[in-house]
Amino acid sequence: MKLNKMIYGGDYNPEQWSEEIWQEDVRLMQEAGVNLVSLGIFSWAKLEPQDGVFEFLWLDRLMDLLHANGIAVDLSTPTASPPAWMITKHEDILPITAEGYPLWHGSRRHYCPHNPQYRRYAARIAEKLAERYKDHPALAMWHIDNEYGCHVGECFCDTSVQAFRDWLMERYQSVDAFNHAWGTAFWGQQYGNWQEIQPPRITPAHSNPTQQLDWKRFTSDSWIDCFKEQRDVIRSITPQIEITTNFMGFHKGIDYFKFAGEEDHVSNDNYPDTYQSDWMVQAGMVCDLIRSIGNGKPWMLMEQSTSQVNWRPRNVVKRPGVMRLGSMQALARGADGVMFFQWRQSKAGAEKHHSGMLPHSGTDTRVWREVKGLGNELAGLSEIVGSTVDAEAAILMDWENWWALEIDSKPSNELKLLPQLYKMYRYFHERNIPVNFAHPESDLSEYKFVAMPNLYLVGDQAAENINQYVQQGGTLLMTYFSGVVDANEHIRLGGYPASFREMLGMWVEEYVPYPDGLKNKIACNDGKYFECDFWADVIRLESAKVLASFEEDYFADMPAITQNSFGKGQAYYLGTELNHDGNVWLLDQICSSIGINATMCDAGEGIEAIRRTKNEESWLFLMNYTNKAVAVNLAHAGINVLHQVPVSGTVTVSANDVLIIKQTS
Ligand code: GAL
Repeated sequence: MKLNKMIYGGDYNPEQWSEEIWQEDVRLMQEAGVNLVSLGIFSWAKLEPQDGVFEFLWLDRLMDLLHANGIAVDLSTPTASPPAWMITKHEDILPITAEGYPLWHGSRRHYCPHNPQYRRYAARIAEKLAERYKDHPALAMWHIDNEYGCHVGECFCDTSVQAFRDWLMERYQSVDAFNHAWGTAFWGQQYGNWQEIQPPRITPAHSNPTQQLDWKRFTSDSWIDCFKEQRDVIRSITPQIEITTNFMGFHKGIDYFKFAGEEDHVSNDNYPDTYQSDWMVQAGMVCDLIRSIGNGKPWMLMEQSTSQVNWRPRNVVKRPGVMRLGSMQALARGADGVMFFQWRQSKAGAEKHHSGMLPHSGTDTRVWREVKGLGNELAGLSEIVGSTVDAEAAILMDWENWWALEIDSKPSNELKLLPQLYKMYRYFHERNIPVNFAHPESDLSEYKFVAMPNLYLVGDQAAENINQYVQQGGTLLMTYFSGVVDANEHIRLGGYPASFREMLGMWVEEYVPYPDGLKNKIACNDGKYFECDFWADVIRLESAKVLASFEEDYFADMPAITQNSFGKGQAYYLGTELNHDGNVWLLDQICSSIGINATMCDAGEGIEAIRRTKNEESWLFLMNYTNKAVAVNLAHAGINVLHQVPVSGTVTVSANDVLIIKQTS
């Protein structure tokens, strides 16, 4: 978006308040440095109070008022909350659960993504809004719907079932090909025609795994289709205005790599639980994912909270300074702006106990002072807009693998993807090494190192891509239970992981998932020992060399970690669940062997250091999450941007504080 400044603002839901209050809102927005608001997200009932009767005058007044006060608008289509009249008229818009129950009007997101009436109404209101405001000077961006897939991930109504069948017809073309893909020869599940197919409903035992996987693919595609339909209508009317929808970080239900490709601008909502001591690692991981799915382009933090949310069992406050730290972290990791849910804390309704930028008690409050303080700081950071984060390392991530890995009937059903990604990510975060998340089919050649944690499902194209990456000089670390199945979720036969056997110079004969409490140890070839648990692979060596072996169990002395030269590259394999120290030991060895270091500065513990770059200039963000001042040795002199003073040598980052050092190469 071309505001050419750091975006600052929030969801603005003014229909809750009188027009007098709107005047106060814009005055205070200016005071806080707000330059963009997301408007109309849940306003359908007010914009279209009856079928085909549109009331835009109130929105006209708001758009004018905001513009007159220098505040731009990220205008939303209100389709996340269909009005009551619509549901009364077309009850079949309501989504149906797997158990067959409707989810009624009375909260939000109560629609089936496949319902033709709903889709028609949604496209119509999108068109009306675009026509009405296409030339309005306040219009800066489009925000379609709100958090697709939130609350309601899937719908099992008859229309959805037919849409699933149509999707399968398109994918497989023939019933034979489809029967083959689903492996229906097992348990006598053959289908004679498309009409016999059902979604994975409640079944006596495990539902067919490929049926479960295809259902996930299908539902993900359906939400993306809903977006595309509105996007196309809007784009045809305002081709010059960028279009986004707000993502939810590691949201399992929708393939965001696929979805991001349909947007002009990627934006995300992030609500880390700051009560957890590692909240900044979790939040950083989300920021890096969002930057990655948008191909490294600047993204936008569309929603966060100023203080507490209202949807956890206990909603802790963001303690003084924490909201600023989290906001600066998003900027450091590639965002060109931070926004909040919501501008003015509600008086009524389901989110009245959720914090806002302007709290119930007004401006004589800590939260308001922090909001205003941050807004004023951001106003001085316009030069950073458009800069990017360069990473030499990547972690492979694929939604299809996430779905497949967590389908039931596995060697260990406790193997979940996010904790595994987190373990890998934590290393990079702690070492202040920038890292991207990369899709396994994407171009990996720019990376010196690629980590491949538990990539159980690997399609043919991805398998070839990964082999090629190593062959051409890349360094890869694959962890256990990777490369096991193809895109149909069929085992790749020929010794696990068959498509990588040559690359790895080894194969896995048996998976040995551990019961709770059972532990083992690995002995490393430099004399170190580390604990491991949860899983062991019985590894059969071919050309690989052994870096560590198991100490105990019937596979004692057999390899736990291997390394193999393949083409011009190196392929490492980790066949167990190592403790954190072990992971650090392994990743340190790999990274230092290929010259990946945290070269930007020498930072003490508790400091997150990350750099954004634009041409010859860069901005080193130093976030101190501890309650003590921490010294940081800078590799180069620069300017402390927030205080406008030159700095060199050692700088001190105060407790819970942030420094941004501009350096020129
Ligand atoms: C988001 C949603 C907002 C608000 C917020 C509260 O998921 O988009 O509308 O509900 O959560 O944390």
